[in-house]
Amino acid sequence: MYPIFCYSRLLPLQPNKIFMSIWKTQPSTSITGTIQVPGDKSISHRSIMFAALANGRSEITGFLQGEDCIATRKAFESMGVSIYDQGDKIVIDGVGLKGLCQPKDAIDVGNSGTGMRLLAGVLAGQAFATTLIGDASLMTRPMGRVAKPLAQMGADISTKANGCAPIDIAPAKKLRGITYRQQIASAQVKSALLLAGLYAEGETCIHEPGISRDHTERMLRQFGYPVETIETGEGRTTKLVGGGQLTATDIAVPADISSAAFYLVAGAIGNGEIRLKQVGINPTRTGIITILELMGADLHYGNRCDSAEPVADIIIKSTALKNITVPKALVPLAIDEFPVIFIAAACAEGEFILRNAKELRVKESDRIEAMATGLKALGVDCQVLEDGIIIRGNPKNPFPKAATVDSLTDHRIAMAFAVAGIRAEGGITIVDCDNVATSFPNFLALAASVNMHLEEQPA
Ligand code: S3P
Repeated sequence: MYPIFCYSRLLPLQPNKIFMSIWKTQPSTSITGTIQVPGDKSISHRSIMFAALANGRSEITGFLQGEDCIATRKAFESMGVSIYDQGDKIVIDGVGLKGLCQPKDAIDVGNSGTGMRLLAGVLAGQAFATTLIGDASLMTRPMGRVAKPLAQMGADISTKANGCAPIDIAPAKKLRGITYRQQIASAQVKSALLLAGLYAEGETCIHEPGISRDHTERMLRQFGYPVETIETGEGRTTKLVGGGQLTATDIAVPADISSAAFYLVAGAIGNGEIRLKQVGINPTRTGIITILELMGADLHYGNRCDSAEPVADIIIKSTALKNITVPKALVPLAIDEFPVIFIAAACAEGEFILRNAKELRVKESDRIEAMATGLKALGVDCQVLEDGIIIRGNPKNPFPKAATVDSLTDHRIAMAFAVAGIRAEGGITIVDCDNVATSFPNFLALAASVNMHLEEQPA
C-alpha cells in the first residue's frame, strides 16, 4: 500500500494535495510511429534567462512547457520581466543585464537543478537580495559546487552548512572574474559562472576536465556576446569578459534529445521502427547516439539542419544489441540518458560496464541506486559500483520478474522503467510518476501513439 496524503513534493507542505500517480505496463508486440518530443529543457531554461537579460524583445518557439522551465519563467516574471504567450511563441521583453527587480518572495524553482544553479549565477550579480528554494528532492542536492566559486568571484552567497539550498544571496558588491578549474565537467557550474561573469570585472575562465553541454556558450553568441572556447585535449576551457550587453534575438528550441532517448531505446528494444522529428543533435549531447551505435543499434539521421543548435530526424529500427564498456569521454555527453541506457543494457547480450559516473548519484535521485533497485526487482543481473554499474543483459527475457518499482520522484527513472515495460512479460508497476511533468508532460500520449501499453492510475 502507498500512502496518499502524507507525501508532498513541494515546500512548503501542501497536505491536501494528492501526488504519486502510478503507471502500469504491459508488453508491446510492435513499437512504431513518427513523433516529435517536446522542446529541449536545457535550452528552454537558458532561452528565458538570456532573453530576460537582453536589451529588446525576443521570441522563443519550441519552448518546453514543463514544470521546470515554467518555474524559470515565473522566476523572471517575479523579477519584473514581461513574458507572454502568443500562439506557439513566448515573447519576452528583456530588461537588460541591470534591469531585474527584487522579487517579493523567495524564488521557488521546483525540481530544477538547472534552474537553481544558473539562477544563482544571475542573482550573484544583482543589487538586491534573494533566496532560492526548491522541492524536497532539490533541497537535498549539492549547491556548494556553484556557491563556492561564486563566492570566490566576490558574491555574498550562502547555503545550509551541508551545502544544500536554501541559497541566500545578498546584494552584490563588485564581482571579479576568476579562473576556475572544475573537478568534474558540469554545464550547470560552467553556466552559473559564465552568467555571473557577465557582471564581473575582467575575465572569467573555466577549465573543465571533459566536455559538458555548450548551450550557454552557443546562446551567448546568439545574443551577440563574445565567448571563447578552447579544446584542451581531454576537456575544454571557456572564457568571457564581463561588462558587455546581450542583444535580443529569436530562439528556436529543438526537440530534447534527453526526452527522445526514451523513444530511441523503445525503438531499439521494441519490434519496429521509430522516427523522432527534429531532435537537437548538438555534439555535446549525443552520447546516447554514440553509445547505442557502439551497442549495434540500427539508427541514422535524416533532414539534418545546422543552425545555432543542429537538429535532425532520428530514425531507429529494432535490432539485437551487444553490451559495451562505456568510454569515459562519453559519460558527460550522455549523463541524463543513463537510466534508459541501463534498460537497453538489460536487453542486450553480454556485460555492460559503466564507470566514472558518480555524478549520477546526485541527480534528481541517486540514479545508480534507484535503477539498480528496480532492475534487481525485475530479475536483472546487475552490480552497483561506487561510480557506476555492471549489468549482465538477457536478450531473450530481459525482465523475468513482475515487480513494483519506485521512481523516487525522479522523472527519468519513471520513464526508463516505462520503456522497460515493452519487454517485461509480467508487467511493471511504477510508483510516483508525477514528476514526469517536469520535463516531458505528454510522455504518456506519445507512448500510446507508438503502441506502448502504459496505463496511468491516480494514487
Ligand atoms: C544541465 C546539465 C547537466 C544535466 C542537467 C541539465 C544543464 O547537469 O544533468 O540535467 O542544463 O546545464 P550537470 O551540469 O550537473 O552535469
